[in-house]
Amino acid sequence: MLKLVAFFLTLSIFSSLSAQDLSINGPWKFKTGDQPGWAVPGLNDSAWSTIHTGASWENQGYKGYDGFAWYRLHIVIPSSIKDKAFLKEKIRFDLGKIDDGDEFYLNGFLIGRNAGKGGTIQSGDWQQQRSYTIPLTDGRIHWDKDNVIAIRVWDHDGDGGMYDGKYGISVMDVTDYISLDMSTDEFHFSAADARQFSKKIVLRSSSEKFDFTGRLNIRVVDPFSGTAVYKQTIGTDFAQDRPFEYTVKTSLPQQGPYRVEYSFEEGRSKKIVTAAEEVPYILTPSPGAAPRINGPEIYGVRPDAPFLYKIPATGEKPAAYSATGLPSTLSLDKSSGIITGSIAKKGSYPVQLTVKNHAGTATRRFTIICGDKIGLTPALGWNSWNCWGLSVSDEKVKASAAAMSEKLADHGWSYINIDDGWEEKRDDKGEILTNNKFQDMKALCDHVHGLGLKIGIYSSPGPRTCGGYLGSYQHEDQDAATYARWGIDYLKYDWCSYGEIAPQAPSLDEMKKPYIIMRKALDKTGRDILYSLCQYGMGDVWKWGGEIGANSWRTTGDITDTWGSMAGIGFSQEKAAPYTAPGNFNDPDMLVVGRVGWGPSLHNARLTPDEQYTHISLWSLLSAPLLIGCDMSRLDNFTLGLLTNDEVLAVDQDALARPAKKVWDKDNIQVWVKELKDGSKAVGIFNQGAQPAKPTIPYSSLGLPAQLKVRDLWRQQDLTSIQKAFTPRIPAHGVVLLKVKAKT
Ligand code: GAL
Repeated sequence: MLKLVAFFLTLSIFSSLSAQDLSINGPWKFKTGDQPGWAVPGLNDSAWSTIHTGASWENQGYKGYDGFAWYRLHIVIPSSIKDKAFLKEKIRFDLGKIDDGDEFYLNGFLIGRNAGKGGTIQSGDWQQQRSYTIPLTDGRIHWDKDNVIAIRVWDHDGDGGMYDGKYGISVMDVTDYISLDMSTDEFHFSAADARQFSKKIVLRSSSEKFDFTGRLNIRVVDPFSGTAVYKQTIGTDFAQDRPFEYTVKTSLPQQGPYRVEYSFEEGRSKKIVTAAEEVPYILTPSPGAAPRINGPEIYGVRPDAPFLYKIPATGEKPAAYSATGLPSTLSLDKSSGIITGSIAKKGSYPVQLTVKNHAGTATRRFTIICGDKIGLTPALGWNSWNCWGLSVSDEKVKASAAAMSEKLADHGWSYINIDDGWEEKRDDKGEILTNNKFQDMKALCDHVHGLGLKIGIYSSPGPRTCGGYLGSYQHEDQDAATYARWGIDYLKYDWCSYGEIAPQAPSLDEMKKPYIIMRKALDKTGRDILYSLCQYGMGDVWKWGGEIGANSWRTTGDITDTWGSMAGIGFSQEKAAPYTAPGNFNDPDMLVVGRVGWGPSLHNARLTPDEQYTHISLWSLLSAPLLIGCDMSRLDNFTLGLLTNDEVLAVDQDALARPAKKVWDKDNIQVWVKELKDGSKAVGIFNQGAQPAKPTIPYSSLGLPAQLKVRDLWRQQDLTSIQKAFTPRIPAHGVVLLKVKAKT
């Protein structure tokens, strides 16, 4: 049974990819330089060197080479691949991703070009999988004879050539033309009963020539038992201009996890296209009507720096906010809960916060520590990069601030961070100006502050940022002063293009240098600006980030919304963990939940619901900054549930700032345990496997006492019956996040 499920999973991931008829992994012939004659089939390339796809040319003897180079491959294309195909229309050449741009020649003829927006191969999009198709009748193919595939490649910066993606030659068959599109609709749940859902799926054809008929089978499966709780078979008929739509409507026996499996059998060829998706399920209970105060227990501010803190409290509004023990130079707006002012004297100020509404009263201790450190708990906020990329604008930032204020601020979320893409040129005094997407940065900052939220910005120590905008090089003091004048509260400071300033292999001191310069510049402003380094972990930044005055530092390259990327980063953070302290946090990069896309067009994060629970749980256990990377103006209920579980967020915000340690790693199950300030422990039991699991993990193997009080944090429920060992049911790539305390 398990084997069958595994087979299905593999199929579903690759549902739209057909098997390749011919492999073209090489060895290829290779030469740096650029000559038009290198496309010609008759060219004698026997003296060219050889190269393989799957690794960059840098890794095959051409270290540091940027510019033009050619790949050539001699291959016999047998006509038998046509004979065995059901549909005999087109042949496809899959050439992987080519870094950065390319032209593809077949037997001397130009078939296609990747030229990006700029129209030349110098502006090619290196991330695009190259798949070129031509009709089988095209005379440029030499059936059963030698063919020469010649690829002219241009690369600037970093790795070059054909090192990633899918390679091969195939005759396009039924399954290549048919796709099961699950992206046009969200899952809709009934407001009255969260087990009832509907979801539209679309069967599409990309064939200009053929119509398709067949049967669409739909099953909703309980992944633990493998049994179908819903089955449906529908007759279909569709063509390129006539997609077939079907809406699955059913009621689940209980809330998830469940998996919807789609399988379309084409009538004539009997070939099958499959796809599958997980039904999102919400674990976080809705907050009650009575107030509950959330957010950190401790808060750092520097003497005389402007103070801004909105008391995060759920519960029905209006509510009345009050505080005892507040320093007299701070004032609290009783109806919004926003505290402003400044504190002159260093010290620890214990405050008692109270929030009252018609349904009840909540109180909570909150300690303001006026001293040298800020950002004592990890930042909770939003950053524009993972959704909007360089298309970020004033309007989009305001929409995010509105959404945060309305839906998330009560749970402690407070930073609205503008990433790259806001900068223009400098004026004649060297002042950095905003581009026309940001008409008035000061007004934007005031607007965000008015909501009780904070605002962040991005720059790079080099002359240019990673997105090619102006960096802060040699303008650090001026830029820091500008940020402070605008009212900026957070600076993400990258590395890009500083490589041109630093020596080739920079020493540790040279790596630290630009960050120390900006630290000094920020100090001169008198404003509390959280300082976040983004140099991807170079020189083991976790060992020195705190010492040079950073509040957080990226430990990795950029995250993307795949299990491989998220889990690869999240589960390998142990090395940096010991360097975490209040005010100094490892940053394994921003969250990839909700609608992301690196702008301007977005898609739902390609992580399953369980992978997203893993993502938030793991980042919280690691005491990582939580920076939402999605379009917050379109937060669906599932994503909202992920981001508003106060008991989970409390793990991230715990004042001890002690990141979890991995204490168990066996058969795809990892257990991470984090000590919490109140003497209890947060325990994350993760299933890294692609199948559901039900492990038995004795408390004793985790160093825990035999008698425990256990609470499920996502469900916010005490568990009564477990003793001596955890025996959780964990979905594929999922997690069970618990809080445990010795039973006395
Ligand atoms: C990258 C950074 C991203 C984003 C981008 C902006 O270096 O890792 O998170 O800030 O630059 O261009």
